[in-house]
Amino acid sequence: MTLKNDLFLRALKGETVERPPVWMMRQAGRYLPEFMEIREKYDFFTRCRTPELASEITVQPIRRYGMDAAILFSDILVIPQAMNIEVQMKPNFGPYLPNPIRSQKDVDAVVVPDVHEELGYVMEAIKHTKELLNDEVPLIGFAGSPWTILCYCVQGQGSKNFDIAKSFCFSQPIAAHALLQKITDTTIAYLIAKVEAGVDAVQVFDSWGGMLAPEDYSEFSWKYIQQIIDALKDLVPVIAFGKGCWFALPEMAKSGAAALGVDWTCSAKNARYLTGGQITLQGNFDPARLLSPPAEITRRVHQMIDEFGKDRYIANLGHGILPNIPLENAEAFIEAVKSYKVS
Ligand code: CP3
Repeated sequence: MTLKNDLFLRALKGETVERPPVWMMRQAGRYLPEFMEIREKYDFFTRCRTPELASEITVQPIRRYGMDAAILFSDILVIPQAMNIEVQMKPNFGPYLPNPIRSQKDVDAVVVPDVHEELGYVMEAIKHTKELLNDEVPLIGFAGSPWTILCYCVQGQGSKNFDIAKSFCFSQPIAAHALLQKITDTTIAYLIAKVEAGVDAVQVFDSWGGMLAPEDYSEFSWKYIQQIIDALKDLVPVIAFGKGCWFALPEMAKSGAAALGVDWTCSAKNARYLTGGQITLQGNFDPARLLSPPAEITRRVHQMIDEFGKDRYIANLGHGILPNIPLENAEAFIEAVKSYKVS
């Protein structure tokens, strides 16, 4: 099988490219009218669990904008669900876990599942999506980082500071590490199964890594992401994205990850400096900047590519696309990358 467009995989290998590849974090779902139609008819986990729906939502942005990679429609919270932790998705509220983990006893009740049994629907969705994509562009599989998953498992919902999750780690570190290890073991088995089902690359989202001070980040987050990279890196390119984790970039650059995600608070120059200039970087357009007029978006995207350089670079946002982005602004972002010429 050869992909018709392998720009993304070539950038992950560090090869010289005509222009950088582009995709947008959280591109599947959220802002497209064709997604909203499906969303009105089916609740969130039905969309995740029905391969025809998940694959349709995955390819919608590719059909409309022609990004250089697709990301499977799913959620990071299918992992705790498979580990016997109830997860609900409440409309206009977000994730809600009615029985949060707060003690060693709670951790003991958490299961490391057979991922094929509990998450087989994800593998089916991958196979179905690969058929729909017809080898046009690569498919990215993903998981949350163990720390980010712990945040939801302990806090029980989204939070501005994840204070309960941090307090659990700092007051009951043995229980916290036991939970992180169970999540890590499940995530490794899950990502390997995704690779076997056909994904071409995987991304680990550490959305809440930046909540931690550098020393705590090493202990409670990076240590477990490194285990995931070690287990996956010889099978598939791994992208590690830590929001707010610029301070960890030097350590991340030595990890064996194929690429590192950068958010918009870290300049391209600083990200290149901190990572030693060799590894592929991905990012880092401020998602709110997609609210600027299209001409301004184009100008800023070209400037962003000039700053990162066209090679060893994947153009992306610095975090997920916001739900209120006008369609023509998202298009301006994608087209600005596709029309980029070295000056
Ligand atoms: O590109 C994609 O959107 C692919 C699918 C995807 C979803 N969630 C679908 C989704 C991906 C990659 C995720 C990752 C995810 N989920 C993260 C990490 C990335 C990030 O944005 O930081 C996190 C922290 C979650 C947890 C989560 N799921 C939250 C906080 C929410 C509610 C708010 C929101 O919209 O982000 C969800 C629900 C969710 N996951 C929706 C979608 C499309 C919206 C709910 C719905 O469609 O009914």
